[in-house]
Amino acid sequence: MAEYDYDVLVIGAGPGGYVAAIRAAQLGLKTACAEGRETLGGTCLNVGCIPSKAMLHASEYFDAAASGTMAKMGIKVKPELDLEAMHGQRKDSVKGLTGGIEFLFKKNKVDWLKGYAQFKDAHSVEVAGKTVTAKNVVIATGSSVTPLPGVEIDNSKGVVVDSTGALELASVPKKMVVIGGGVIGLELGSVWRRLGAEVIVVEFLDQLLPGMDMDVRKEAAKIFKKQGMTLKLSTKVTGVTVKGKKATLTLEPAAGGDAEKLDADVVLVSIGRKPNTEGLGLDEIGLEVNQRSQIETDHDFATKVDGVWAIGDVIPGPMLAHKAEDEGIAVAENIAGLTGIVNHDVIPGVVYTQPEIAGVGLTEEAAKERGAVKVGKFPMLANSRAKTNHEPDGFVKVIADAETDRVLGVWCIASVAGTMIAQAAQAMEFGATSEDIAYTCHAHPTHSEAIKEAAMAVTGKPIHI
Ligand code: FAD
Ligand code: NAI
Repeated sequence: MAEYDYDVLVIGAGPGGYVAAIRAAQLGLKTACAEGRETLGGTCLNVGCIPSKAMLHASEYFDAAASGTMAKMGIKVKPELDLEAMHGQRKDSVKGLTGGIEFLFKKNKVDWLKGYAQFKDAHSVEVAGKTVTAKNVVIATGSSVTPLPGVEIDNSKGVVVDSTGALELASVPKKMVVIGGGVIGLELGSVWRRLGAEVIVVEFLDQLLPGMDMDVRKEAAKIFKKQGMTLKLSTKVTGVTVKGKKATLTLEPAAGGDAEKLDADVVLVSIGRKPNTEGLGLDEIGLEVNQRSQIETDHDFATKVDGVWAIGDVIPGPMLAHKAEDEGIAVAENIAGLTGIVNHDVIPGVVYTQPEIAGVGLTEEAAKERGAVKVGKFPMLANSRAKTNHEPDGFVKVIADAETDRVLGVWCIASVAGTMIAQAAQAMEFGATSEDIAYTCHAHPTHSEAIKEAAMAVTGKPIHI
């Protein structure tokens, strides 16, 4: 009889966990995946990446019709919002994709253990009252919303909500206050602004989108303001009270000063996410978390406890689905005795607003801390495709090492920046110089030509500006 029930048991079926389980099974390992949700796919497929993109995509069409963008191209329509149908197509997308993971589990012979898992020891885990043993256990439990002290989130009431509640609002709020000018606040704030809400974003820092390049952050703020969002930067929320269907927020300057009141029909709390490590029984296996409640691993995604591995939002690094997926593949390959690696220096990030905001590698600020850099910039206004499509906002910025010309970072604000950034990531993986990009033939007319021209601008020779 085998020593363990499974070679690999993955805890959590988000983009990290389900990918790890499938790859482990593909590599011939007997694999199970424990998931407590009713459907597979984790935060990303159920309440994150996918439903938010479904609402962003649909609301973009509505906005294009309502704002006159379509009329400018000779298409006169007066849109009428059927919010129930919009939610319906969101739910259909989620159902299709989460069902798809269930199909892939069956196809690859991954056993889905339904329930929340808890460690008994490093090789045994209890799921739904049953103990299961495995030679290797991968923790891929993801993250959940960071609460704001003193502010009670109640998605069922629909007044003070987190991202899950904000995806499901039953009607368009008159006035929505978003606490936190990060990715969730700007994406979901954009959805409801496009559908008619007045949206006010309250951000503690003096600029939106921490972690992104400063030029990008400043340009993004200008664009969001132009689109009609109100930005209250350097401001903190000190309390929220709810009476019936109305909320009142108390705001203060971040540096201290006089408080002001702000009322809202809906308040979205989007101040970050925290790793899911509570209730896992980490004490039972002697695994400690760091100050940010993350599980630390080595480059192979092994924790300090033999046979226990961790990936995705629960470990340090950007909380992104594609980072979790790549770590899922790498950890399975390492368990199988292969060499699974993730290059954490080249993980693209995309904000799916319109225009999209994307970046990979170092910001100009971080690159300058390392040494001398050369920077090339090219405005989308001078890109023929963007101009033809009436998408003048944004730019591309290429940051290269001043001595070696190696590309250190690429940043884009453009309607399809999320797609454009893939070529930059690939170039950086291959150790490209800005000259390599500048001398690569790009199809015309495409938005991607702006990356070529920004690369040409690194040495001062773009053609179209
Ligand atoms: P998760 O997806 O969080 O999955 C973890 C799973 O583990 C969950 O299903 C949970 O139920 C389960 N679990 C937890 N504890 C246990 C337990 N003890 N036993 C069994 N199961 C357990 N990222 C992007 O890259 N692009 C985007 O466009 C994007 N949009 C987002 C939009 C929103 C609104 C949100 C909230 C997030 C978004 N993200 C996006 C982030 C992305 O969802 C996460 O980075 C990604 O889901 C992390 O994957 P993961 O596998 O680590 O964890
Ligand atoms: P975030 O970390 O992106 O932004 C949170 C913002 O809230 C920051 O700007 C922070 O300064 C601000 N903040 C913190 N405390 C505050 C306070 N008390 N008052 C006012 N502002 C405050 O976190 P967010 O938007 O909640 O997203 C969580 C995670 O989900 C992110 O790490 C992101 O990577 C991921 N995500 C990714 C998406 C994508 O890739 N397109 C989409 C949505 C989420």
